[in-house]
Amino acid sequence: MNILLIVGTTRDGRKTIRAAEAARNRFEQEGHEVEFFDLKQKEIPFLGNRTYIEEGQVPEDIQDLSNKVEETDCLLIITPEYNHSIPGALKNALDYLYPEYNDLPFAYITDSAGGFGGVRAMSHLNDITLALGGYPGPSLQISNISEVLSKTGEITEDDFEERLDSFVEDVESQVAKLG
Ligand SMILES: Cc1cc2nc3c(=O)[nH]c(=O)nc-3n(C[C@H](O)[C@H](O)[C@H](O)COP(=O)(O)O)c2cc1C
Repeated sequence: MNILLIVGTTRDGRKTIRAAEAARNRFEQEGHEVEFFDLKQKEIPFLGNRTYIEEGQVPEDIQDLSNKVEETDCLLIITPEYNHSIPGALKNALDYLYPEYNDLPFAYITDSAGGFGGVRAMSHLNDITLALGGYPGPSLQISNISEVLSKTGEITEDDFEERLDSFVEDVESQVAKLG
């Protein structure tokens, strides 16, 4: 399976990158190909127009995102919760595309520094996915991220190994079902 992993935050010192690295490692260990699309490394201005409205006139990184979304088997969004929702940079990037998402399986990892694991961001992601025409899929919440993952993405909490394994299985099964 080919997975497009979007890292949803551009904040300096972001801890969510730890979750992204851990997820990438685990999916790759299972033999999947992971394409890493880190918004912090991209130049994505505020939405001027959607890809299908002005083809050829979208920012280069958005054209790249469009091509990658078209080709992938699953869009995995990994994001913190910011102010009870998803970060603005992530919403802006997602808004550029539309037909590319049609019938695409989505999966999510949300996190927070506190005890709620980004559940409110998760709820918004479900709604956003439906608006985009994708299929909302499995999700994994990470509370107290600093206690669960080290700065280099190593897992420091035993339970999380199991939860991540089970998430990977759920994503595999969801993608297989939707074929
Ligand atoms: C602008 C901003 C808003 C935040 N809002 C929330 C929030 O609504 N709920 C929550 O649980 N944590 C919130 N947090 C804490 C983040 O979940 C925390 O920083 C966590 O480490 C993941 O974000 P990071 O990848 O930017 O480090 C917020 C953090 C920032 C920077």
